Amino acid sequence: MSAAWLKDTVFYEIYPQSFYDTNGDGIGDIKGIIEKLDYIKDLGCNALWINPCFDSPFKDAGYDVRDYKKVADRYGTNEDLYRLFEEAHKKGIRVLLDLVPGHTSEEHEWFRQSQKAEKNEYSDRYIWTTFCFEGAEGFPYVGGESERSATYMLNFFKCQPALNYGFRQVTKHWQLPIHHPAALATREAMKDVMRFWLSHGCDGFRVDMAASLVKNDDEKKSGTSAVWLDIRRMLDLEFPDAAMVAEWSNPPLALRAGYDMDFYLNERGNGYSTLFRDYENHQGEDHSYFKKDAGGNINRFLDQYLQWYQDTKDIGYISLLSCNHDTLRPRYNMDESELKLAYAFLYTLPGVPFLYYGDEIGMRYQNIPTKEGGYFRTGSRTPMQWDRSANLGFSTGCAEDLYLPVDDAEDAPTVASQEADPDSLYHTVKEILALRHSQEDLQADAPFRVICSEPGKPFVYQRGSLLLAVNPDSASKTVKAAFTQNRILYQIGSASCKEGSLTLAGQSFVVLK
Ligand code: NOJ
Ligand code: CA
Repeated sequence: MSAAWLKDTVFYEIYPQSFYDTNGDGIGDIKGIIEKLDYIKDLGCNALWINPCFDSPFKDAGYDVRDYKKVADRYGTNEDLYRLFEEAHKKGIRVLLDLVPGHTSEEHEWFRQSQKAEKNEYSDRYIWTTFCFEGAEGFPYVGGESERSATYMLNFFKCQPALNYGFRQVTKHWQLPIHHPAALATREAMKDVMRFWLSHGCDGFRVDMAASLVKNDDEKKSGTSAVWLDIRRMLDLEFPDAAMVAEWSNPPLALRAGYDMDFYLNERGNGYSTLFRDYENHQGEDHSYFKKDAGGNINRFLDQYLQWYQDTKDIGYISLLSCNHDTLRPRYNMDESELKLAYAFLYTLPGVPFLYYGDEIGMRYQNIPTKEGGYFRTGSRTPMQWDRSANLGFSTGCAEDLYLPVDDAEDAPTVASQEADPDSLYHTVKEILALRHSQEDLQADAPFRVICSEPGKPFVYQRGSLLLAVNPDSASKTVKAAFTQNRILYQIGSASCKEGSLTLAGQSFVVLK
């Protein structure tokens, strides 16, 4: 059973280093998030996902955790974070932290201990072979850096040694089974981290690489799923209101492993990518569904989505997102008029949707050098653009000290400029989110049904008793269908309907009651 509060929740993802800097050091901080809670609430988001804000050497922007229980100095103190939970709750906003259970930083104290030649409590907290020249065959590994005569397995970058949750299929003498006391100890250590933050007021976690825990797992990920189901039991008993969203991108598996939500992430050519990022697949040609006149086809999304939706609608939620800190921003290839329709669609589908900071004002992807292991992702991680003051209102520090440079385009969108323009993307997002909160039929649980997905026609769908339609192309389009709704609740562009015929002007969206 999912936490009841998810039914009417829209998440706002915050990359803390780039959101709002309150002490002029050029790096966003927890106090900055507290100051902007009213902005987030007013936009229509009522929950946050904050990227890792824990002590870290920042070789992967904080996904290399050095101390799970300590806020990184650059963001403030644990007390600041506790106060964020409190202030957010006063405004009806929930807060998810980012849990990175699959690996730590190579500077984590557990790993330091694990590297020692002499056996100790942490020797098997990570995955080691038994000899300095023996590689972790089939897995990425590092040798030659430890006192211990062995090599260790990596989970992602070189700075991120894999924590040991055991192997579902043990094929080498150095691999431990899932129920080995050392593998169980890792699991308990992660529960301890979760309990720590939940008991200080956090509302749950976004879980990094959730499918990565147990190695040599089967196709159904039954080893990893067993770990999560065990953790879920702990949550149900001790923190029944906590919510968990997986970075797994396989809702049938993730939701059966006890997650409330799973992201539908962009993978080249998958359904989600075909909505906004199809350019990656067609050597420069863009057939994204929401790109005007690009010849996109909604069925490329629906083929996978509907299968997942049918399979999981009674056990949890699929989470769609505008983008995240790992992808190009949707503004990369789409203009404001295209984004309005894309967001109208995203935020009227079932499940629990996410909005990445700055996507509500159409922040652009920046072509800039890598920072903290970001590579191409760095361009989506630049400071939030608040107004036309110095550093676009992000920080009072010197421009050279900023975590990343702000968009220097003369027409860089800002919250202030978008607030002042009644036709802006920002206002559309705000209207759609307000509509979603006002209509139970647009929220997480209301049924979803496709009415028309014929190429060349508007895409028409039903949510509860409401009828919705979108036409991303520039030409006006008509669809005939048996429907009874005839009162326009909301529209972008213009639409008209009579006697089972619905016409949408070019680039329009409509909700009918
Ligand atoms: C997924 C995170 O979203 C990404 O930013 C990170 O680099 C990897 N996992 C490794 O933790
Ligand atoms: Ca700061």
